[in-house]
Amino acid sequence: MNTNAIDFDRYDRIRPIRWTGQALELLDQRKLPFVVEYVTCADSDAVAEAIHALTVRGAPAIGIAAAWGVVLASRTVEANDGRDAAARLEPALQRLNAARPTAVNLAWALARMRRALAAAGADWREVLEREAQAIADEDLAANRRMGALGAALIPPGSGVLTHCNTGSLATAGFGTALGVIRAGVAEGRIDKVFAGETRPWLQGARLTVWELQQDGISPTLIADSAASHLMRSGDVQWVVVGADRICANGDTANKIGTYQLAIAARHHGLKFMVVAPSSTVDMETPSGDAIHIEERDPGELFAVGGVRTAADEIGAWNPVFDVTPHELIDAIVTERGVIERPDEAAMKAAFG
Ligand code: MRU
Repeated sequence: MNTNAIDFDRYDRIRPIRWTGQALELLDQRKLPFVVEYVTCADSDAVAEAIHALTVRGAPAIGIAAAWGVVLASRTVEANDGRDAAARLEPALQRLNAARPTAVNLAWALARMRRALAAAGADWREVLEREAQAIADEDLAANRRMGALGAALIPPGSGVLTHCNTGSLATAGFGTALGVIRAGVAEGRIDKVFAGETRPWLQGARLTVWELQQDGISPTLIADSAASHLMRSGDVQWVVVGADRICANGDTANKIGTYQLAIAARHHGLKFMVVAPSSTVDMETPSGDAIHIEERDPGELFAVGGVRTAADEIGAWNPVFDVTPHELIDAIVTERGVIERPDEAAMKAAFG
């Protein structure tokens, strides 16, 4: 496994989160692919709102954005040391934490900021800024390592199907599942990349195919409902997805529709890979049954691009994540290594 073999500059051009020293700039993912525009968050509540509104989205990216939100909050309080500051900052941290419930990276990043603060002295503001930068830098490094580890599982000449957006847009850069796909293409292992539209928010159609296009990779977009038919055709060998929370038994929450892909992959004899940094692993949650699945405004189902497509005055149910049971997962790839056929024992061996 050699991460140096991949030309990262060629295969990774987009950065969704920019820290200016005074404010946080977020690439507005609600407007992509037709408008490429950064919004500026000058305080932590603006960051919380941006996370809730999906201006920034993707599990690692919302953790990184929240960490910078804490840095912004630190500019508004006076304190002598980290412990003193921690008490004053806690309400802002709680509001950031409440922005979205399913991706554990958000709570993980805030817990890490709290720990840094608890150990800090008079320089607590600089400590927080260094910690936020470290969270972002470590995420990029983890993604590059996972790219190489995951790609090594894919035989040359393969086709892959991915879901949602797990790329640079969802992380500090390079991506998780999309990082594996970038590495697999660069190494000549992946010949064909299929991306599901990912209804209702269309992360696949609006973000993934656009992001791959920027890197000179030509993806094929499919309707989510075409996945089983594609699998039957023999054109894909692996389904490669990201994660929002991986439980102590390997059960994995990810974008709604992932579970049905895993069932269909098993039926067709395809392999199913979950790619996520260790910041997505939640050993405190025993199984998928205990995960809080976010439900969003049913209005997201009534319209496409602002044009109503559903009949008037109907109800809708809009859970935006589902849980893939660990029995359907062939490999979980983190920066710490590959866990094949994950279960409670294998997870415990890897993450304690
Ligand atoms: O609702 P989103 O767009 O934040 O959901 C994103 C996903 O489900 C991703 O697959 C997951 O966060 C991993 S991103 C590297």
